[in-house]
Amino acid sequence: MRKGFLTFAAVGLLATGGLTACGDDGGSDQAGSNDKKPKIGVILPDSKSSARWEGADRKYLKEAFDAAGVESDIQNAQNDKTAFQTIADQMITNGVNVLMIVNLDSGTGKAVLDKAKSQGVATIDYDRLTLGGSAQYYVSFDNEAVGKLQGEGLVKCLTDKNVKNPAISYLNGSPTDNNATLFKNGYDSVLKPKFDANEYTKVADDSVPAWDNAQAATIFEQQLTKARGKIDGVLAANDGLGNAAISVLKKNKLNGKVPVTGQDATKEGLQNILAGDQCMTVYKAVKKEADAASELAIALAKGEKKDTGQTVKDPEGNRDVPSVLLEPKAIYKDNVNDVVADGYVTKEELCTGDFAKLCTEAGVS
Ligand code: BGC
Repeated sequence: MRKGFLTFAAVGLLATGGLTACGDDGGSDQAGSNDKKPKIGVILPDSKSSARWEGADRKYLKEAFDAAGVESDIQNAQNDKTAFQTIADQMITNGVNVLMIVNLDSGTGKAVLDKAKSQGVATIDYDRLTLGGSAQYYVSFDNEAVGKLQGEGLVKCLTDKNVKNPAISYLNGSPTDNNATLFKNGYDSVLKPKFDANEYTKVADDSVPAWDNAQAATIFEQQLTKARGKIDGVLAANDGLGNAAISVLKKNKLNGKVPVTGQDATKEGLQNILAGDQCMTVYKAVKKEADAASELAIALAKGEKKDTGQTVKDPEGNRDVPSVLLEPKAIYKDNVNDVVADGYVTKEELCTGDFAKLCTEAGVS
């Protein structure tokens, strides 16, 4: 293992011309180390599909790199695949030795990873696995577990409301995001047995391109029309899609009656939960994800190898990718405070205006 990594590192350094005499490296184990200053590039996917990317990931990653005294360049591709590749090219030209990406799809993600590799730049898949890609590490959450929590959450909220044979709609994430597939596998594992047993009926099942919240509202409106207004529960794959469904439910005076799921514990999602319009969300401690990824990135930048103790199978590349997978947590009205206590959302931003009273009722302190 270690040998393989060092071989890669040495090849990489040769390619960038960074290999220097290692007189003081303290031993042959360090043969791949270099005196180039660590510089890490991060490409975030967009700023609209979820508040997390600009609101949490950027902040936590920057803090982690700054705390380690490591230079970083964090950019956002704004859902533009061409821009994604241009940013990667610029980062490589500007001398990053590690590139961390949240791909927009596996095709362009793979092109960027492979190019980085050919230039001796180490890579990390951050949050989304690039199928067929070549990243050294994958850092994310257990995404099937995320979906399972969503499925279980919907069942719990429907049971609490005592809804019999509920009509369910799916608002899935982007078809080009491997996470969306994993989330769906997770919620299907809970809901499909109910469909098969005729306990629940699935009346709609659509993917939302690029997780686009505006499109999600249009899609949900069509689902509701097609179902003649009879939708009893919405499995929305994240808070943005959930909020889109809630906006349509509001127009039809159905909000609060129809449970809607979510993900990301965004301020808006938590407020929808406090208001009773959203049934649950899934909290992913992004700080932990950013810390784990930055630690690996810094190690790679220094030519070191860290063992993550876990791998994830890339079914397309038929490769076991060394991974860090963190545990997600379900959030309902009665434990919204967990997200606040963790410092992810502050009480001040959450409990504004009408939400102050709802926060008090829900025990947000
Ligand atoms: C992330 C989610 C996010 C979604 C849309 C997924 O890959 O795991 O946290 O809500 O993308 O940005």
